[in-house]
Amino acid sequence: MRALVYHGPGEKAWQDVPKPEIIADTDAIVRVDTTTICGTDLHILKGDVPVVTDGRILGHEAVGTVESVGRGVKTVKPGDRVLVSCVTVCGTCRFCREGHPGQCLGGGGWIFGYKIDGTQAEYVRVPFADTSTYLMPDGVLDEDILMLADILPTGYEVGVLNGGVRPGDVVAVVGSGPVGLSAITGALLFSPSHVVAIDLADSRLEAAKQFGADVTVNNLTEDPLEVIRSLTGGLGADVAIEAVGAPATFELAVQLSRPGGRIANIGVHGEPATLHLEEQWIRNITITTGLVDAYSTPTLLRLVTSGLIDAGRFITHRFALDEFDEAYDVFARAGETGALKVVLSR
Ligand SMILES: NC(=O)c1ccc[n+]([C@@H]2O[C@H](COP(=O)([O-])OP(=O)(O)OC[C@H]3O[C@@H](n4cnc5c(N)ncnc54)[C@H](O)[C@@H]3O)[C@@H](O)[C@H]2O)c1
Ligand SMILES: [Zn+2]
Ligand SMILES: [Zn+2]
Repeated sequence: MRALVYHGPGEKAWQDVPKPEIIADTDAIVRVDTTTICGTDLHILKGDVPVVTDGRILGHEAVGTVESVGRGVKTVKPGDRVLVSCVTVCGTCRFCREGHPGQCLGGGGWIFGYKIDGTQAEYVRVPFADTSTYLMPDGVLDEDILMLADILPTGYEVGVLNGGVRPGDVVAVVGSGPVGLSAITGALLFSPSHVVAIDLADSRLEAAKQFGADVTVNNLTEDPLEVIRSLTGGLGADVAIEAVGAPATFELAVQLSRPGGRIANIGVHGEPATLHLEEQWIRNITITTGLVDAYSTPTLLRLVTSGLIDAGRFITHRFALDEFDEAYDVFARAGETGALKVVLSR
Protein backbone atom coordinates (compact mmCIF):
# COMPACT_ATOMS: atom_id res chain seq x y z
CA MET A 1 0.00 0.00 0.00
CA ARG A 2 0.99 3.65 -0.08
CA ALA A 3 1.39 5.93 2.92
CA LEU A 4 2.82 9.28 3.94
CA VAL A 5 6.07 8.50 5.75
CA TYR A 6 8.08 10.89 7.94
CA HIS A 7 11.81 10.90 7.17
CA GLY A 8 13.21 13.38 9.70
CA PRO A 9 12.73 17.15 9.98
CA GLY A 10 11.25 18.65 6.81
CA GLU A 11 11.17 15.30 4.96
CA LYS A 12 8.15 13.21 4.06
CA ALA A 13 7.24 10.92 1.16
CA TRP A 14 4.10 9.26 -0.23
CA GLN A 15 5.62 5.84 -0.81
CA ASP A 16 5.11 2.08 -0.90
CA VAL A 17 5.11 0.42 2.53
CA PRO A 18 3.94 -2.99 3.76
CA LYS A 19 0.19 -3.16 4.36
CA PRO A 20 -0.54 -3.33 8.13
CA GLU A 21 -1.54 -6.66 9.64
CA ILE A 22 -3.39 -7.63 12.77
CA ILE A 23 -0.90 -7.94 15.63
CA ALA A 24 -3.15 -8.17 18.72
CA ASP A 25 -6.52 -9.89 18.61
CA THR A 26 -8.20 -6.59 19.62
CA ASP A 27 -6.92 -4.88 16.43
CA ALA A 28 -8.83 -3.95 13.31
CA ILE A 29 -7.41 -3.09 9.90
CA VAL A 30 -9.30 -0.12 8.49
CA ARG A 31 -9.23 1.03 4.87
CA VAL A 32 -8.84 4.81 5.05
CA ASP A 33 -11.58 6.49 3.02
CA THR A 34 -10.87 10.03 4.14
CA THR A 35 -8.21 11.66 6.29
CA THR A 36 -6.92 15.12 7.11
CA ILE A 37 -3.91 17.06 8.38
CA CYS A 38 -3.59 18.58 11.86
CA GLY A 39 -1.43 21.50 13.03
CA THR A 40 0.31 18.90 15.19
CA ASP A 41 1.47 17.10 12.00
CA LEU A 42 3.19 20.35 10.99
CA HIS A 43 4.95 20.45 14.39
CA ILE A 44 6.09 16.85 13.85
CA LEU A 45 7.36 17.64 10.35
CA LYS A 46 9.40 20.52 11.70
CA GLY A 47 11.09 18.06 14.04
CA ASP A 48 9.50 19.53 17.20
CA VAL A 49 8.27 16.11 18.39
CA PRO A 50 11.35 13.89 18.76
CA VAL A 51 9.26 10.84 19.77
CA VAL A 52 8.35 10.60 16.08
CA THR A 53 11.23 8.93 14.26
CA ASP A 54 12.22 8.26 10.65
CA GLY A 55 9.86 5.77 9.02
CA ARG A 56 6.71 6.65 10.97
CA ILE A 57 3.47 6.98 8.97
CA LEU A 58 1.87 10.32 9.90
CA GLY A 59 -1.73 11.26 10.74
CA HIS A 60 -4.20 10.71 13.59
CA GLU A 61 -7.63 11.35 12.05
CA ALA A 62 -9.64 9.11 9.70
CA VAL A 63 -12.97 7.79 8.57
CA GLY A 64 -12.77 4.40 6.91
CA THR A 65 -14.16 0.95 6.27
CA VAL A 66 -13.21 -2.02 8.44
CA GLU A 67 -11.41 -4.60 6.35
CA SER A 68 -10.57 -7.25 8.95
CA VAL A 69 -10.68 -7.67 12.71
CA GLY A 70 -8.82 -9.74 15.29
CA ARG A 71 -10.50 -12.63 17.08
CA GLY A 72 -11.12 -10.57 20.21
CA VAL A 73 -13.03 -7.77 18.48
CA LYS A 74 -16.72 -8.00 19.34
CA THR A 75 -18.59 -4.94 18.14
CA VAL A 76 -16.85 -3.96 14.91
CA LYS A 77 -16.99 -6.15 11.81
CA PRO A 78 -15.65 -6.10 8.25
CA GLY A 79 -17.60 -3.69 6.08
CA ASP A 80 -18.51 -1.34 8.93
CA ARG A 81 -17.84 2.35 8.29
CA VAL A 82 -16.13 3.86 11.29
CA LEU A 83 -14.65 7.04 12.69
CA VAL A 84 -11.10 6.44 13.90
CA SER A 85 -10.54 8.84 16.79
CA CYS A 86 -7.18 10.46 17.53
CA VAL A 87 -7.44 8.93 21.01
CA THR A 88 -7.11 5.16 21.34
CA VAL A 89 -8.89 3.63 24.34
CA CYS A 90 -7.61 0.43 26.02
CA GLY A 91 -10.81 0.55 28.07
CA THR A 92 -9.44 -1.20 31.14
CA CYS A 93 -6.77 1.00 32.71
CA ARG A 94 -7.56 3.42 35.53
CA PHE A 95 -7.70 6.49 33.29
CA CYS A 96 -9.83 4.88 30.59
CA ARG A 97 -12.28 3.76 33.29
CA GLU A 98 -12.38 7.28 34.69
CA GLY A 99 -13.18 8.74 31.26
CA HIS A 100 -9.69 10.07 30.54
CA PRO A 101 -8.26 7.79 27.85
CA GLY A 102 -6.01 10.64 26.71
CA GLN A 103 -3.92 9.51 29.70
CA CYS A 104 -4.33 5.77 28.93
CA LEU A 105 -1.83 3.50 30.67
CA GLY A 106 -2.68 0.38 28.65
CA GLY A 107 -1.16 1.26 25.28
CA GLY A 108 -3.76 3.80 24.12
CA GLY A 109 -3.98 7.60 24.31
CA TRP A 110 -2.66 9.66 21.41
CA ILE A 111 -0.58 7.07 19.54
CA PHE A 112 -1.45 7.34 15.81
CA GLY A 113 1.18 9.09 13.73
CA TYR A 114 3.18 9.50 16.93
CA LYS A 115 4.02 6.21 18.65
CA ILE A 116 2.50 3.88 16.03
CA ASP A 117 1.81 4.24 12.31
CA GLY A 118 -0.96 6.69 11.53
CA THR A 119 -3.90 7.34 9.27
CA GLN A 120 -2.34 9.21 6.33
CA ALA A 121 -2.22 5.93 4.44
CA GLU A 122 -4.38 3.59 2.40
CA TYR A 123 -4.83 1.32 5.46
CA VAL A 124 -4.27 1.68 9.19
CA ARG A 125 -4.05 -0.80 12.06
CA VAL A 126 -6.39 0.33 14.84
CA PRO A 127 -5.61 -1.14 18.30
CA PHE A 128 -8.47 -1.73 20.78
CA ALA A 129 -10.91 -1.42 17.88
CA ASP A 130 -14.06 -1.95 19.98
CA THR A 131 -13.40 1.05 22.19
CA SER A 132 -11.43 3.26 19.78
CA THR A 133 -13.77 3.47 16.79
CA TYR A 134 -17.31 4.79 16.39
CA LEU A 135 -19.82 3.42 13.91
CA MET A 136 -20.72 6.01 11.31
CA PRO A 137 -24.31 7.18 11.59
CA ASP A 138 -26.45 6.97 8.43
CA GLY A 139 -27.03 9.97 6.21
CA VAL A 140 -23.89 11.94 7.04
CA LEU A 141 -20.83 12.65 4.98
CA ASP A 142 -17.56 10.92 5.86
CA GLU A 143 -15.75 14.24 5.71
CA ASP A 144 -18.14 15.85 8.20
CA ILE A 145 -17.67 13.05 10.73
CA LEU A 146 -13.90 13.28 10.17
CA MET A 147 -14.02 16.61 12.03
CA LEU A 148 -14.86 14.56 15.15
CA ALA A 149 -11.55 12.69 15.04
CA ASP A 150 -9.72 15.52 16.79
CA ILE A 151 -10.68 19.20 16.52
CA LEU A 152 -14.33 19.15 17.64
CA PRO A 153 -13.79 17.08 20.81
CA THR A 154 -10.64 19.09 21.56
CA GLY A 155 -12.36 22.47 21.40
CA TYR A 156 -15.42 21.16 23.24
CA GLU A 157 -13.76 19.17 26.06
CA VAL A 158 -10.49 21.01 26.68
CA GLY A 159 -11.91 24.47 25.93
CA VAL A 160 -15.65 24.67 26.58
CA LEU A 161 -16.29 21.96 29.18
CA ASN A 162 -13.03 22.45 31.11
CA GLY A 163 -13.73 26.20 30.99
CA GLY A 164 -17.23 25.59 32.35
CA VAL A 165 -19.00 27.84 29.84
CA ARG A 166 -22.49 28.75 31.12
CA PRO A 167 -25.47 30.62 29.66
CA GLY A 168 -24.89 34.36 29.55
CA ASP A 169 -21.10 34.08 29.84
CA VAL A 170 -18.72 36.31 27.95
CA VAL A 171 -16.28 33.88 26.34
CA ALA A 172 -12.95 35.02 24.91
CA VAL A 173 -11.22 32.63 22.52
CA VAL A 174 -7.57 33.40 21.77
CA GLY A 175 -6.68 31.82 18.40
CA SER A 176 -9.15 31.12 15.60
CA GLY A 177 -7.55 28.13 13.93
CA PRO A 178 -9.59 24.94 13.54
CA VAL A 179 -9.32 24.27 17.29
CA GLY A 180 -10.32 27.80 18.32
CA LEU A 181 -13.23 27.63 15.86
CA SER A 182 -14.24 24.31 17.43
CA ALA A 183 -14.22 26.00 20.84
CA ILE A 184 -16.42 28.79 19.44
CA THR A 185 -18.78 26.17 17.98
CA GLY A 186 -18.99 24.36 21.32
CA ALA A 187 -19.38 27.54 23.38
CA LEU A 188 -22.39 28.62 21.30
CA LEU A 189 -24.26 25.50 22.43
CA PHE A 190 -24.45 27.14 25.88
CA SER A 191 -25.93 30.50 24.80
CA PRO A 192 -23.09 32.82 25.85
CA SER A 193 -23.90 36.54 25.75
CA HIS A 194 -20.74 37.23 23.74
CA VAL A 195 -18.09 35.17 22.01
CA VAL A 196 -15.00 37.26 21.35
CA ALA A 197 -12.51 35.79 18.85
CA ILE A 198 -8.93 37.08 19.01
CA ASP A 199 -6.36 36.34 16.30
CA LEU A 200 -3.56 38.03 14.36
CA ALA A 201 -4.87 36.85 10.96
CA ASP A 202 -7.85 38.62 9.43
CA SER A 203 -8.72 35.54 7.35
CA ARG A 204 -9.09 33.55 10.58
CA LEU A 205 -11.20 36.31 12.18
CA GLU A 206 -13.46 36.29 9.12
CA ALA A 207 -13.92 32.53 9.66
CA ALA A 208 -14.61 33.15 13.36
CA LYS A 209 -17.45 35.53 12.40
CA GLN A 210 -18.93 32.90 10.11
CA PHE A 211 -18.70 30.38 12.95
CA GLY A 212 -20.72 32.70 15.19
CA ALA A 213 -18.29 34.92 17.12
CA ASP A 214 -20.13 38.23 17.53
CA VAL A 215 -16.96 40.23 18.29
CA THR A 216 -13.59 39.80 16.57
CA VAL A 217 -10.33 41.44 17.59
CA ASN A 218 -7.11 41.56 15.63
CA ASN A 219 -4.62 41.88 18.47
CA LEU A 220 -2.00 43.35 16.12
CA THR A 221 -4.06 46.50 15.77
CA GLU A 222 -6.53 46.46 18.66
CA ASP A 223 -6.19 45.84 22.40
CA PRO A 224 -8.29 42.77 23.31
CA LEU A 225 -8.23 43.74 27.00
CA GLU A 226 -10.00 47.01 26.24
CA VAL A 227 -12.58 45.26 24.08
CA ILE A 228 -13.34 42.65 26.75
CA ARG A 229 -13.51 45.28 29.48
CA SER A 230 -15.92 47.39 27.46
CA LEU A 231 -18.21 44.34 27.09
CA THR A 232 -18.08 43.39 30.78
CA GLY A 233 -18.26 46.62 32.75
CA GLY A 234 -14.49 46.48 33.24
CA LEU A 235 -14.53 43.00 34.83
CA GLY A 236 -13.12 40.66 32.19
CA ALA A 237 -14.29 37.47 30.49
CA ASP A 238 -16.09 34.75 32.41
CA VAL A 239 -14.15 32.17 30.41
CA ALA A 240 -10.94 32.69 28.42
CA ILE A 241 -9.90 29.84 26.11
CA GLU A 242 -6.31 29.63 24.85
CA ALA A 243 -6.15 27.91 21.44
CA VAL A 244 -2.71 28.89 20.12
CA GLY A 245 0.04 27.35 22.27
CA ALA A 246 2.40 30.30 22.90
CA PRO A 247 3.52 32.06 26.11
CA ALA A 248 2.04 35.40 24.99
CA THR A 249 -1.40 33.96 24.28
CA PHE A 250 -1.56 32.04 27.56
CA GLU A 251 -0.59 35.19 29.44
CA LEU A 252 -3.20 37.14 27.45
CA ALA A 253 -5.91 34.61 28.31
CA VAL A 254 -5.11 35.01 32.02
CA GLN A 255 -5.25 38.81 31.72
CA LEU A 256 -8.58 38.69 29.90
CA SER A 257 -10.38 36.73 32.61
CA ARG A 258 -12.49 38.33 35.35
CA PRO A 259 -11.97 37.71 39.08
CA GLY A 260 -13.36 34.21 39.66
CA GLY A 261 -13.01 33.54 35.94
CA ARG A 262 -11.91 30.35 34.26
CA ILE A 263 -8.98 29.98 31.86
CA ALA A 264 -8.95 26.85 29.74
CA ASN A 265 -5.67 26.15 27.99
CA ILE A 266 -5.90 24.01 24.84
CA GLY A 267 -2.67 25.01 23.06
CA VAL A 268 0.30 22.66 22.93
CA HIS A 269 3.18 24.63 24.43
CA GLY A 270 6.84 24.18 23.60
CA GLU A 271 8.18 26.89 25.89
CA PRO A 272 7.51 28.01 29.46
CA ALA A 273 4.85 30.68 29.99
CA THR A 274 4.73 33.03 32.98
CA LEU A 275 1.88 32.88 35.46
CA HIS A 276 1.90 36.22 37.31
CA LEU A 277 0.90 34.89 40.71
CA GLU A 278 1.87 38.24 42.22
CA GLU A 279 -1.20 39.62 40.39
CA GLN A 280 -3.39 36.56 40.18
CA TRP A 281 -3.27 35.09 43.72
CA ILE A 282 -6.08 37.40 44.82
CA ARG A 283 -8.36 36.93 41.79
CA ASN A 284 -9.92 33.48 42.47
CA ILE A 285 -9.17 32.24 38.94
CA THR A 286 -9.24 28.62 37.82
CA ILE A 287 -6.80 27.43 35.16
CA THR A 288 -7.30 24.11 33.40
CA THR A 289 -5.05 22.23 30.97
CA GLY A 290 -5.61 19.02 29.11
CA LEU A 291 -5.08 16.59 26.32
CA VAL A 292 -8.28 15.68 24.53
CA ASP A 293 -9.90 12.43 25.78
CA ALA A 294 -12.60 12.30 23.07
CA TYR A 295 -15.15 11.14 25.68
CA SER A 296 -17.56 13.65 24.12
CA THR A 297 -17.52 11.94 20.71
CA PRO A 298 -20.94 10.24 21.12
CA THR A 299 -22.50 13.59 22.12
CA LEU A 300 -20.84 15.40 19.23
CA LEU A 301 -21.96 12.66 16.80
CA ARG A 302 -25.56 13.38 17.82
CA LEU A 303 -25.05 17.13 17.49
CA VAL A 304 -23.60 16.75 13.98
CA THR A 305 -26.17 14.22 12.76
CA SER A 306 -29.03 16.34 14.07
CA GLY A 307 -27.63 19.42 12.32
CA LEU A 308 -26.97 21.36 15.55
CA ILE A 309 -23.28 21.48 14.63
CA ASP A 310 -22.32 22.14 11.00
CA ALA A 311 -19.06 20.21 10.76
CA GLY A 312 -18.79 20.69 7.00
CA ARG A 313 -17.89 24.35 7.28
CA PHE A 314 -14.43 23.49 8.62
CA ILE A 315 -13.53 21.97 5.25
CA THR A 316 -11.97 24.47 2.89
CA HIS A 317 -9.96 22.24 0.50
CA ARG A 318 -10.34 18.74 -0.89
CA PHE A 319 -7.67 16.46 -2.40
CA ALA A 320 -7.20 12.88 -3.55
CA LEU A 321 -5.36 10.54 -1.19
CA ASP A 322 -2.15 10.69 -3.23
CA GLU A 323 -2.02 14.51 -3.21
CA PHE A 324 -0.40 14.92 0.21
CA ASP A 325 2.32 17.26 -1.06
CA GLU A 326 -0.24 19.75 -2.36
CA ALA A 327 -2.49 19.31 0.68
CA TYR A 328 0.36 19.90 3.18
CA ASP A 329 1.47 22.94 1.21
CA VAL A 330 -2.01 24.51 1.22
CA PHE A 331 -2.50 23.70 4.91
CA ALA A 332 0.92 25.02 5.96
CA ARG A 333 0.23 28.35 4.20
CA ALA A 334 -3.16 28.81 5.86
CA GLY A 335 -2.69 32.58 6.20
CA GLU A 336 -2.55 32.94 2.40
CA THR A 337 -4.76 30.04 1.33
CA GLY A 338 -7.50 30.50 3.94
CA ALA A 339 -7.24 26.79 4.76
CA LEU A 340 -9.01 25.49 7.85
CA LYS A 341 -9.23 21.74 7.35
CA VAL A 342 -8.01 20.05 4.16
CA VAL A 343 -9.55 16.68 3.43
CA LEU A 344 -7.98 13.86 1.40
CA SER A 345 -10.28 11.11 0.13
CA ARG A 346 -9.86 7.98 -1.96
N1 LIG B 1 -4.85 19.97 24.06
C1 LIG B 1 -5.11 19.16 23.05
O1 LIG B 1 -5.53 18.02 23.24
C2 LIG B 1 -4.92 19.63 21.64
C3 LIG B 1 -5.45 18.88 20.57
C4 LIG B 1 -5.30 19.36 19.27
C5 LIG B 1 -4.61 20.57 19.07
N2 LIG B 1 -4.09 21.25 20.13
C6 LIG B 1 -3.37 22.52 19.97
O2 LIG B 1 -4.30 23.58 19.84
C7 LIG B 1 -3.62 24.70 19.24
C8 LIG B 1 -4.47 25.26 18.11
O3 LIG B 1 -4.56 24.31 17.05
P1 LIG B 1 -4.99 24.75 15.57
O4 LIG B 1 -4.96 23.53 14.74
O5 LIG B 1 -6.23 25.58 15.62
O6 LIG B 1 -3.71 25.66 15.23
P2 LIG B 1 -3.50 26.80 14.12
O7 LIG B 1 -2.04 27.03 14.08
O8 LIG B 1 -4.24 26.46 12.88
O9 LIG B 1 -4.23 28.08 14.75
C9 LIG B 1 -3.64 28.92 15.69
C10 LIG B 1 -4.19 30.32 15.45
O10 LIG B 1 -3.56 31.18 16.42
C11 LIG B 1 -3.28 32.41 15.81
N3 LIG B 1 -2.22 33.08 16.57
C12 LIG B 1 -0.88 32.82 16.57
N4 LIG B 1 -0.25 33.66 17.40
C13 LIG B 1 -1.20 34.47 17.94
C14 LIG B 1 -1.17 35.56 18.86
N5 LIG B 1 -0.01 35.98 19.41
N6 LIG B 1 -2.33 36.16 19.19
C15 LIG B 1 -3.50 35.75 18.65
N7 LIG B 1 -3.59 34.73 17.75
C16 LIG B 1 -2.45 34.10 17.41
C17 LIG B 1 -2.88 32.06 14.39
O11 LIG B 1 -3.04 33.16 13.51
C18 LIG B 1 -3.86 30.91 14.07
O12 LIG B 1 -5.04 31.37 13.45
C19 LIG B 1 -2.25 24.18 18.81
O13 LIG B 1 -1.30 24.52 19.79
C20 LIG B 1 -2.48 22.67 18.76
O14 LIG B 1 -1.27 21.95 18.85
C21 LIG B 1 -4.26 20.80 21.40
ZN1 LIG C 1 -4.51 16.72 15.89
ZN1 LIG D 1 -6.45 2.85 28.99
